[in-house]
Order: sequence, then C-alpha cells, then structure tokens
Amino acid sequence: LATSRVDLSPISEGQAITITWQGKPVFIRHRTSEEIEQAREVPLDDLIDPQRDAERVIEPQWLVMVGICTHLGCIPLGQSSSDPKGDFGGWFCPCHGSHYDTSGRIRKGPAPRNLEVPTYEFAEDTTIVIG
Ligand code: FES
Repeated sequence: LATSRVDLSPISEGQAITITWQGKPVFIRHRTSEEIEQAREVPLDDLIDPQRDAERVIEPQWLVMVGICTHLGCIPLGQSSSDPKGDFGGWFCPCHGSHYDTSGRIRKGPAPRNLEVPTYEFAEDTTIVIG
C-alpha cells in the first residue's frame, strides 16, 4: 500500500491544504480552537452518522479526511478561505447540497456518511504518514 508523508508545519491555524493520496484528494485542516470547540459540543443525537470528534482525530488541531462527498462523490468546497463552508462551518458539497461540520460529519443534505478519515499516524510532531 502506498503511503504519503506530509509536512504539516507550513499550514497555519485556520488554513487547509489538499494533497493527493492513492488518486484521491485528502483534506488536511489546521483547525482553530473555535472549530474544535464547535465539533466537540455537538450532541451525538444531532448527528446523521453519529461519531464523536475525538474518534475522528489523533491531534485535535489536525483534521485529516478523504475529500470525497459520501453521496455521489463530488469534491466538497471549504478548503480555501473564500469557499462556502455550509451551515455548519466545515464543508459544503454543491452537487446536491450536503453540509459537513468542522469534524467533517454530515449534518444536512443527502450524503449518508461522514467524510472518511484515512489511516494515518504522526511520524514526528508535525509530520504525518497517510496510508
Ligand atoms: Fe455531494 Fe451529492 S455528491 S451532495
């Protein structure tokens, strides 16, 4: 299985980058404390695909996900600071209107599941290895 090593140190708080891993876009967002707080305070009962934020991250400030909408596979918007982020501050899929929160969980719209978190680990403080 091919792995990808990513240096996170150039990504400042509030910024996001997209890399390609196994032909798929992978979103990496350096979350702000407000985004982390927002993700943590949502009751599980409010979620379509119930998952705690803590189950989706290794280090809370770094959210790493496959950037493919779980509805029909479009690439959600939200990576650039000028992108629409939907009603829950995360990502918005313009194809059919799915809204994802700051943990990448589906909150509104036709997508059935949260954005997928790939297997990854920290090799150093600010370096991850995906895959
Ligand atoms: Fe994203 Fe349909 S593919 S909402």
